[in-house]
Amino acid sequence: MLNRKKVILDVDTGSDDAVAIMLAIRSEELEILGITVTWGNRPVDNCVENTLRVLDLMGRDIPVYKGCPQPMVRYLTRQRNAALDKDGISANIGGQEVTVHPAYLDLPPAVLRAQESHACTFLVETLRNAKEKVTLIPVGPLTNIGMALRMAPEIKENIEEIVLMGGAVGMGNITASAEANFYHDPEAAKIVLDSGIPCRVIGLNATHSAELTLEDAETLKSLGTPAGQFAGELVESRIRALKAMGTGNGVSDAIHDAVAVACAACPEIILDMKRQRCDIDINGGAADGQLIADTRIGYEADETVTTQIVYKVDKKQFFDLLCRRLSEK
Ligand code: BDR
Ligand code: CA
Repeated sequence: MLNRKKVILDVDTGSDDAVAIMLAIRSEELEILGITVTWGNRPVDNCVENTLRVLDLMGRDIPVYKGCPQPMVRYLTRQRNAALDKDGISANIGGQEVTVHPAYLDLPPAVLRAQESHACTFLVETLRNAKEKVTLIPVGPLTNIGMALRMAPEIKENIEEIVLMGGAVGMGNITASAEANFYHDPEAAKIVLDSGIPCRVIGLNATHSAELTLEDAETLKSLGTPAGQFAGELVESRIRALKAMGTGNGVSDAIHDAVAVACAACPEIILDMKRQRCDIDINGGAADGQLIADTRIGYEADETVTTQIVYKVDKKQFFDLLCRRLSEK
């Protein structure tokens, strides 16, 4: 009997979050205790509805908890959005909204309902009472996780590891220097990376090393399952939207959050991972929200450093995994 990793997903669903949730559900290595939802790609209420729609599609009634609607502190300083010239998610082209993350995923309205408790309450109570350590897989801004760690720092004793999608070394997407999840709540990202909890950081370097193509989207659609069909449609619409917005190549795109889930379930797909000291710029300037990895010679991290950055994954293994799992009826 496989010893399944107990996990909590934290999502801002979102197109790539949707693929990540489907992959997590179909990954026998993972036992999903609950899904907490944060704001990010869209307001938190939309992200909750989108998460429930995906669960309906998959026929899985996993408890979903609505979390924080805003970052911990960043909106308190108005000038902090100075480096943000566009949100990178949507554009108005010829009077039409073109978007990477539709306000509502193209699925029937959700039948399932979210739980009454707040996501942070669920995180704190579940982790306080856990008999076995739990792995967190956050793939949105880290607000819920940062807040839960502030509410009850002792929960870190029961966190096995945090496998997160966020950050980038030497590149950005929402700004020239920062990745969107870290940019949206830099303080929360700093709390998480400074917590001493083992963290595997799946940033843009890793996710773009495993981009899926339009051809891959067709393969997913041809799997003959609702999950394969929907994942293929999402991959295709992301590639086409980014091209229309002038920020994509029209051929391929990273399905960021699904790569993070794949790294949590099947770490053998990781080709390059380095233990490195990490910091986050929270100073509100041009580098606001940037992940700073210490890559200097002579400053190599020792075993006491708890952050590891994934730089590269095996695209073929990642895609084969996705196809195998989404082809299950
Ligand atoms: C991350 O930002 C969001 O738009 C995606 O869902 C992903 O989690 C990529 O930078
Ligand atoms: Ca996300």
